[in-house]
Amino acid sequence: MTRIVHTNAELAAAVASARSQGKRIGFVPTMGALHEGHLSLVRIAQQHAEFVVVSIFVNPLQFGAGEDFDKYPRTLEADAAALDAVEADLVYAPSATEVYGDSGYSVTKAAGPAGEGFEGSIRPGHFDGMLTVVARLFELVQPDVAVFGAKDAQQLFLVREMAARDFAALEIIAAPIVREPSGLALSSRNRYLSEQERVTALSLSRSLAAAAAESERAGSSASDVLQAAEQVMAAEPLAKLDYLALVDLSTFAPVGEDFEGRALMLIAARVGTTRLLDNREIVIGQ
Ligand code: PAJ
Repeated sequence: MTRIVHTNAELAAAVASARSQGKRIGFVPTMGALHEGHLSLVRIAQQHAEFVVVSIFVNPLQFGAGEDFDKYPRTLEADAAALDAVEADLVYAPSATEVYGDSGYSVTKAAGPAGEGFEGSIRPGHFDGMLTVVARLFELVQPDVAVFGAKDAQQLFLVREMAARDFAALEIIAAPIVREPSGLALSSRNRYLSEQERVTALSLSRSLAAAAAESERAGSSASDVLQAAEQVMAAEPLAKLDYLALVDLSTFAPVGEDFEGRALMLIAARVGTTRLLDNREIVIGQ
């Protein structure tokens, strides 16, 4: 049975006991409302560690005013059952006081230049709040490896940067995006979509597929690839595009016109009131 704990003391005791048995500690941080994407992270963590901790904590610090903190789905019972089925070892579901202490929540990490564009410009403060909780959770769980989804590409990039700087012994593992057969990337927020909006939401993965197809055409450039994706989105007025960009995998900065090699195409759009993200690796000029 997967054990659920709510306090730092119980977490520390369970981790210490696993460590004393020579087990490596794997960690999967989440905000709950778990789906197959999250569960795939747990399975990957299990390949690298004998004791896997999953945190479920809707972090107030990473939500802006007017965002969905209050209505973010909280489904602890179903989450615990799903984690039991994949044999996660421990669920850590703390209160905000447990995570941040009594003195109130404050941001202790700054995302820096790679956190300024894309999600960072649309959701000011989001990445500072995200890094703050991830660092706090790393301190509490003390994992050997932690698994993050490639779905949140900028988050993954920033977590890697922070870990290299502040948690040098910790290995960060990227997990591939899990999709529905339709192509839609799984997300806790997909449950907000109406049936009609689900159809519109498919335009994100379709535009990435169009970009990938264009990249395979001999002589196609970075701007041809971007244009192919833009065309798909332009034909979908119900999806409000926030950004579409090709970024360098090593800097997360937009690539230039004559870029060649592996890049990441990012897309973010609003469908109704729901914000959706997706991305895909694209090879230009090969
Ligand atoms: P959450 O949105 O719950 O996501 C938890 C982890 O699941 C993240 O690493 C995310 O990239 C991954 N994930 C979500 N959908 C996925 C999919 N379709 N395929 C693969 N992985 C997927 O991201 C957060 O929570 C928070 O910001 C957190 C890191 C927990 C800090 O609060």
